[in-house]
Amino acid sequence: MAQDVQPGGESAQNQAALEAAGQENFDRIIAKDSRIEPRDWMPNAYRRSLVRQISQHAHSEIIGMQPEANWISRAPSLKRKSILMAKVQDEAGHGLYLYSAAETLGTTRDEMTDALVAGKARYSSIFNYPTPTWADMGAIGWMVDGAAICNQVPLCRASYGPYGRAMVRVCKEESFHQRQGFEILLELANGTPEQRVMAQDAVNRWYAPSLMMFGPPDDDSPNSKQSMAWNIKRFSNDELRSRFVGMMAEQVKVLGLSLPDEAIHFNEDTKKWDHGPLDWDEFKEVLAGRGPCNAQRLERRRSAHEDGAWVREAASAYAAKQAATNAQKVAA
Ligand SMILES: [Fe+2]
Ligand SMILES: [Fe+2]
Repeated sequence: MAQDVQPGGESAQNQAALEAAGQENFDRIIAKDSRIEPRDWMPNAYRRSLVRQISQHAHSEIIGMQPEANWISRAPSLKRKSILMAKVQDEAGHGLYLYSAAETLGTTRDEMTDALVAGKARYSSIFNYPTPTWADMGAIGWMVDGAAICNQVPLCRASYGPYGRAMVRVCKEESFHQRQGFEILLELANGTPEQRVMAQDAVNRWYAPSLMMFGPPDDDSPNSKQSMAWNIKRFSNDELRSRFVGMMAEQVKVLGLSLPDEAIHFNEDTKKWDHGPLDWDEFKEVLAGRGPCNAQRLERRRSAHEDGAWVREAASAYAAKQAATNAQKVAA
């Protein structure tokens, strides 16, 4: 739990002693598999790593609204429009919980947003792919939100309290997202021959990018080991990817569709699901900003941020006015 270790203003010797006590407390909390809270002392590298991961996650939720918002006005019925709108709105909420969690580590939402709109911050490469058909809404829900669940359920137990708690609510909503995507695909797969082709085409296009959502292979994932030692990450990228493949391999049978990977099989020796090779060069290209929609996504986010300037100004002015009124009441 929180320990009031405040090194500021101490002599160098005292500061070193306080840091050592803080480190000891931190190590004890991690060893007990308990939680670090914002007021606890934590190593700078732990703080930096969390800010990187949480802000990247928040940006992904925010940018991730775009490929689906693209279909709100064109969804095939009022019911589909309202479901999709609710889903996209959930993603906005996820972004906000996560920005709040990152703010408890001393980085402001403004700083994170500025980094995003300046093109300096990363977000999940999956959201740089286009959504040309309605079936893409099904494939995103089933596969992209499905991969997000596999990744995020273990994060509910992340050692940093505000992050783990934010993930609990996020995961509940992601389950709804995945089911609505599956249901869209199920309906298309049982529809006209053209709808069935459309559903299969979307599954084919989203398959590899969704597998890449788990990040690079374990032997090429520099941050994973430390992240697991700190109990932020609980399973390796390849482990989670294999679980996801197993889940998809079973569920695709219910859809009556197929996954575009003939190498998928359950490996009796490792007791894990294997899959075919992935094009990691493409992954790196998209991550480096050269994917099909990177420029468009960033430009849209930047202009939405600029267009919203008046709302932020109005909210700040209102908050200042409220604070002044409250101060007057206290003084009276
Ligand atoms: Fe989300
Ligand atoms: Fe989602």
